[in-house]
Amino acid sequence: MAAIQVNRLNKTFGGTNRALKDINLTIQPGEMVALIGASGSGKSTLIRHIAGLIPADRGDAGGEVLVHGDAIQAQGRISPDARKVRVGIGVVFQQFNLVERLSVLTNVLTGLLGQISGFRAFFGLFIKSEKQLALKALDRVGIAHTAGQRASTLSGGQQQRAAIARALVQGAAVILADEPIASLDPASSKRVMDALAQINAEDARTVVVSLHQVDYALKYCPRVVALRAGAVVYDGASADVTPDILRDLYGDECEELMGLEDQAASGAGATTHVTADGDLVVAAG
Ligand SMILES: Nc1ncnc2c1ncn2[C@@H]1O[C@H](COP(=O)(O)OP(=O)(O)OP(=O)(O)O)[C@@H](O)[C@H]1O
Ligand SMILES: [Mg+2]
Repeated sequence: MAAIQVNRLNKTFGGTNRALKDINLTIQPGEMVALIGASGSGKSTLIRHIAGLIPADRGDAGGEVLVHGDAIQAQGRISPDARKVRVGIGVVFQQFNLVERLSVLTNVLTGLLGQISGFRAFFGLFIKSEKQLALKALDRVGIAHTAGQRASTLSGGQQQRAAIARALVQGAAVILADEPIASLDPASSKRVMDALAQINAEDARTVVVSLHQVDYALKYCPRVVALRAGAVVYDGASADVTPDILRDLYGDECEELMGLEDQAASGAGATTHVTADGDLVVAAG
């Protein structure tokens, strides 16, 4: 059974802005998939639909989104069971992931709120084994030493890793991360991506991560789904992503981004691959 199944999903904002156009997507358990595309191409909108945070267009155009076989939305209506389905989905946003005035440990423990009694949840009463679980999760993403700090004191990269730890504690088999490294320096970006890749590899959790940085997408994710103006224009191995595809996605910005000007002159047939060190190499065909 697919971890994520998106069938014929359409989303129109304000009556005319077709943000998602007939999206069909199947992601198997344990995959790590990058969602790429220019600004406004629909990456965040698609992630929010998969998480059941916004409903698609009403009626047949709305299609459906299934997570581990359970509908989180169908025909433009969030499923009555969405809360239950969402327990299996951890969402990491670009920012505002944490409650700033609470400790890092408590933030991670909030991953359990869907599973413990309302009374304990309301008063934030967590038992020792739960705190140990949260500490272990923080340790896995390399920031156990920050457990007692207020969340507001964490660096951007540490905040992202705390959000990943929260998804771990939640037990989410599917992790959706929307531009988790957009505002981070290269060293912090690497730590966040390493943390996602590690839990993907070790726990076989499914990871879908939207990224502006194509080099990170190709380095960390075996599969790339590319959106342009709300439609999937590429879905395949990251090893098969060509400069032409990138140029199609990003236009002139891509030439700068990738240093492709020379390749453009040398004609079609160029290929892109990533070295063992994770560098993007564009070779003339
Ligand atoms: N809540 C909303 N109301 C109206 N329009 C919206 C809303 N959310 C997104 N859109 C529109 O949907 C389209 C896709 O936006 P989205 O945020 O999904 O793009 P994105 O690929 O995530 O871009 P970025 O890389 O800048 O984050 C855009 O035209 C955007 O203006
Ligand atoms: Mg976005």
